[in-house]
Amino acid sequence: MTTVTGTDATPSIAQLRQALPLVSVRGLRVAYDGLPVLDGVDLDLFPGETVALLGASGSGKSTLMRSLTGFAPVSGGSVRVAGHDVTNLRRGELRSLRAQVGQVFQQFNLIPRLSVLTNVLTGALHGAGPINVFGGFSGAHRRQAMELLDRVGIAHKATAPARSLSGGQQQRVAIARALMQRPRVILADEPVASLDPKLAHSVLELLQEISREDGIPVLVSLHVLPLALAHSDRIVGLRHGEMVVSGRTADLDAAHLAALYSDGEGDDEHGGA
Ligand SMILES: Nc1ncnc2c1ncn2[C@@H]1O[C@H](COP(=O)(O)OP(=O)(O)O)[C@@H](O)[C@H]1O
Ligand SMILES: [Mg+2]
Repeated sequence: MTTVTGTDATPSIAQLRQALPLVSVRGLRVAYDGLPVLDGVDLDLFPGETVALLGASGSGKSTLMRSLTGFAPVSGGSVRVAGHDVTNLRRGELRSLRAQVGQVFQQFNLIPRLSVLTNVLTGALHGAGPINVFGGFSGAHRRQAMELLDRVGIAHKATAPARSLSGGQQQRVAIARALMQRPRVILADEPVASLDPKLAHSVLELLQEISREDGIPVLVSLHVLPLALAHSDRIVGLRHGEMVVSGRTADLDAAHLAALYSDGEGDDEHGGA
């Protein structure tokens, strides 16, 4: 453990930021209508790492993601995200929390009839209060949005309506939109479940590259093991709301992860509760 003393520690603060998790979850419990959905989940996300969240359908992946932005009924434990105590938010703090968390969804959630560029610009609306979507963006915002489109490889589509793009391209737009927020953390809930395998690889490569280059932790839920093994630094696995796998991707293989997908009736090697 490193102890920081004194007040003149500017370099140490920079180092500390590198070492401190941007997301820290301890003993998280979530219940819907009295039924536990997450039970004692611990999770840290550090700058620059991509963490794959694995688990069968219904294991609690989306609920865990929603817990990080204050959208789940937390019944126990602690959730800290980018300096916010999510289970004890002060008045008005929810908005700034959500502005700091970039989100990417399975269905892209673009506005289909608006241009690609305008869709990216909507990312700048987080935390900005109401703005006229059609006229309210500054030249600086437009330049930033174009740079982001260039970064995700679709600047040439800037003026096209979002609906005219392929799924892989739409997900790149959604990633650029998330970056437009200047997020501290990115949550991607099944971002490649609607894409064919080749596009899935390229979108996950992009997320991991962003994570490394910008130091933004990415939590990405996936249900295809080879994709998780190829595009993450760590893997956490949920089964029936409990975290049963947590390790460096390099130390895990398909055999370690198979338990996530067995039904657990009578062949439960992991003990459990
Ligand atoms: N809003 C909700 N109300 C009641 N139950 C819910 C709600 N959201 C999720 N659940 C339940 O929580 C469990 C986990 O769901 P979810 O987090 O969506 O899993 P995953 O994303 O891994 O498929 C499921 O049993 C689901 O039915
Ligand atoms: Mg889900």
